[in-house]
Amino acid sequence: MNSFWKQNKGIKKSGLMCLLFLLLSITGCSINQPRTVAIASAHPLATQAGFEILHQGGNVYDAAVAVSAALAVVEPSGSGLGGGGFWLLHRESDQLDTMLDGREKAPLAAHKDMFLDVSGKVNPRLSLDGVLAAGIPGMPAGLVHLSKHYGKLSLAQSLAPAIRYAAQGFAIDSRHQKLLAFRKKSLNQHAETAEIFLDKGQVPAANSLLKQSDLAQTLEQIAAKGHAGFYQGSVADKLVNAVQQDGGIWTLADLQQYQVIERPVVTGAYHDMTITSASLPSSGGIVLLEALNILENFDLKAVDPITRKHLIVEALRRAYHDRALYLGDSDFVDVPVEHLLNKQYAQSLASHIQANKATPSHSLTGEPVTKLGGRNTTHFSIMDNQGNRVAATLSINFPFGAGMVASGTGVLLNNEMDDFVSATNSANGYGLVGGAANAIAPEKRMLSSMTPSFLQDGQRIAVLGTPGGSRIISMVLLAALDFNAGQTPDSWVKVKRFHHQYMPDQILYEKKGLSTTEIDALQALGHQLKQSYNYGNMQAVQLDTRTGELSAASDHRGVGFADVQRIK
Ligand code: DON
Repeated sequence: MNSFWKQNKGIKKSGLMCLLFLLLSITGCSINQPRTVAIASAHPLATQAGFEILHQGGNVYDAAVAVSAALAVVEPSGSGLGGGGFWLLHRESDQLDTMLDGREKAPLAAHKDMFLDVSGKVNPRLSLDGVLAAGIPGMPAGLVHLSKHYGKLSLAQSLAPAIRYAAQGFAIDSRHQKLLAFRKKSLNQHAETAEIFLDKGQVPAANSLLKQSDLAQTLEQIAAKGHAGFYQGSVADKLVNAVQQDGGIWTLADLQQYQVIERPVVTGAYHDMTITSASLPSSGGIVLLEALNILENFDLKAVDPITRKHLIVEALRRAYHDRALYLGDSDFVDVPVEHLLNKQYAQSLASHIQANKATPSHSLTGEPVTKLGGRNTTHFSIMDNQGNRVAATLSINFPFGAGMVASGTGVLLNNEMDDFVSATNSANGYGLVGGAANAIAPEKRMLSSMTPSFLQDGQRIAVLGTPGGSRIISMVLLAALDFNAGQTPDSWVKVKRFHHQYMPDQILYEKKGLSTTEIDALQALGHQLKQSYNYGNMQAVQLDTRTGELSAASDHRGVGFADVQRIK
């Protein structure tokens, strides 16, 4: 009797638990749970801006507007109003996944051969420094769209922290100083730009205050007038005047025509992990999934560490080879996305990988591509404990973009035109070469490697991404494998990085990223190896869907800040 009663109570209890569980899943696990949000970004002031907006009643999308705009001010080397990027969104209430494509576009007067000199040779400086290097910015349009269609607060409210940082100034850190030193020569070519960022032509002392009053006013215009505050009226006039005075080709029509595009995301699965990532015009999602599809044909958890690295390298080699051959803006070229993401296709690529021998890149059919990644751009990740989330990777390409502020606007121009192929077989700033799919054409978006991503398994959801040029995709891949191995955000951002991108035919690895034994063993398999400075600046957050617990991590290679806060 006693035992029956106990058993019966047990049944009752589990029945109640089931009902509760059902209710919780229907309501998104929110009953009586305090609201918490995790943010990881590349700068403490940007993370703080996001929390400020959440504490004012904003949702994660308002916070994303605040973080994006703050980064444009406090990390001007990485992204900005003069640049662009991709915001990957998930909304729990209707299970919407979407990507806001705020990538820069080639101006209407751009043409395929615009970076060639009279003798038909590429002049590499033209696509890197100054006005011709700049695509039509997408960042302001992205901020407006995100706020209008997904936020709860006004755009002005979400932009307020960024406006304050620009008007009142903030103390620069050592990372900012290093990147200024890297681009000092270009910045010094333009008096107004040097005036803002340098101190009598030199890198300012640590902790100096950087005030950007023109930028504050441009942000104010966007706060007051939305899209038109940047793409029309006085800001647009100033941008076009500045560009044309320096011999550039922007017109008011370019700015007036710029629109954000909402694109379907790229999704796939690797064992029990689902991946949601950036679609074209970023190559990120496609290359990431193709490499994971190839790797699914091997038991990575069972092989020794050297074979594991060899297999990852071989998968990357093949996925980047296809990037080079096929990928470009899908509004302009036909890209065989379904074929590239087909599991059977991956199986056939995997079947040519030899366990004990590197495949020389030149033996893969097709023409060669890529070299190194860059050193800037930015990423942030936000998620609340209901699962609403944003992964955003934003860029002006090189540190401080084209090295020029459009006079009177505080807006640093991007040098994203360099992500196009200037001429077949001619390497760009990262050493990338490519073909027709990524050739310059008016209004086309240049191919990107930015890979803002969500990962999910039965127990956890992750939001992550990083800057790092062409190496972005391999960094996200290594982090995804670490997630799949059950590790936490702190571990994903710390993973020692190695990379292969088909051409140049070499494994690039971080200092201490490979042990001497691994280096010797990989060389014996026929790989070329090259040591790199430490790279990337990954920002990651995770939700444990069973406990509702959030965690966050910011890459120790940067100066970013990750936090989880309870929001009333
Ligand atoms: O869109 C791209 O792929 C590049 N413009 C990103 C540049 C970048 O990440 C520079 N990095 N550290």
